[in-house]
Amino acid sequence: MIVKTPPLGWNTWNTFGPDINEALILEATDAMVESGLKDAGYEYIVIDDIWSLKERDEKGRLVPDPEKFPHGMKYIADYIHSKGLKFGMYSCAGYLTCAGFPGSYDYEWIDAATFAEWEVDLLKYDFCFHPTTEKADVLYKRMALALANCGRDILFSACSWGAEHTKQWIKETGAHMWRSTGDIVDSWASIKDLSQSQLMAQEYNGHGCFNDMDMLVVGMNGKGNVALTGCTFEEYRLHFSLWALLNSPLMIGCDIRNMTEETKKILTNKEVIAINQDPLGAQPFFANRYQFEINENRGGTAPFYKEYPVDIPVVAKYLEGGDVALDFFNFSDEMKYFQHMTMTPDAIGLPITSGKILELTDLWTGEVIKAFNGTVNVNYLPAHDCRLFRARVIDA
Ligand code: GLA
Repeated sequence: MIVKTPPLGWNTWNTFGPDINEALILEATDAMVESGLKDAGYEYIVIDDIWSLKERDEKGRLVPDPEKFPHGMKYIADYIHSKGLKFGMYSCAGYLTCAGFPGSYDYEWIDAATFAEWEVDLLKYDFCFHPTTEKADVLYKRMALALANCGRDILFSACSWGAEHTKQWIKETGAHMWRSTGDIVDSWASIKDLSQSQLMAQEYNGHGCFNDMDMLVVGMNGKGNVALTGCTFEEYRLHFSLWALLNSPLMIGCDIRNMTEETKKILTNKEVIAINQDPLGAQPFFANRYQFEINENRGGTAPFYKEYPVDIPVVAKYLEGGDVALDFFNFSDEMKYFQHMTMTPDAIGLPITSGKILELTDLWTGEVIKAFNGTVNVNYLPAHDCRLFRARVIDA
């Protein structure tokens, strides 16, 4: 099974944590269809941790908690499939899941067979309580091989948070996505932290195995399992733009049964989703990187190559057909900081000698601007906001 574009879906964890049950999953499935999310491309309904009993049955099989899931998991799968959607579940490479329920260690083949029998389409595979005597790559290979032999195509979503040099071995396992970050929470600080940690980590990202920056907090508005302060509309919009641009799977984490119009506007923006789902799956890169290198050479204060990069990156990604996605970010923490940002098309491979310029369409406002005099200017970009463009090359 080759996964050509980042998976899109919804996951229970961010909002519901332990409070999951059959009714919720069926309602979320309906909401996925009725809210327009399915039409926008979202496909997976994923049950995260805390779905099973604490004990396996006499055959060593995982048992769904009968109070939460009275009809079992095949029933849920049938319902989800009847709506044209796909079903995801969760387990862990250790003895226990992160919340202390049975993990798959030494039960990998039984569990893979069970998930196949339940007609699961995606398995998120966590990394808590794993034996220290086994290497991380082997733990993931165990489940990978079991899934590859289970008789069903099951998307393998590895969740070892980048630990133990995950990026160096994850593709050996055939995983289709891998968590490249720690856990997100619903706050600006978390979005900024995860975003900046990923800007320089793109070389392992792309077709077949995508960097998973964790589930989205868009629309949580400070409510739910990983809620903290909540975020503004602009902050959620930046969050969604960046995850989309960096080829991250887009797994919604809010309560999709009750979304505000603002939340829907972000999550169903088809032009932004098209950037994420672009068939080229190209590696994103800094389009204003040279500005900071020059600064540093001159003893400037922008430490581009340090642990975390600058507050005003411009990130680009080539798209199929010759367009380029361009996103200007203002991560400044001082809310009063508006940024005037520029980049030269030269940085994305378009020199003045080409006789071409860029025409940019803002994917959030629809505004179209042309890059005159060889530079792209974005003025008055407020702190915590971004401008995401699809740039087209046209005659000057
Ligand atoms: C870990 C994962 C989270 C979530 C929880 C469930 O922290 O990173 O995404 O699955 O476990 O316990």
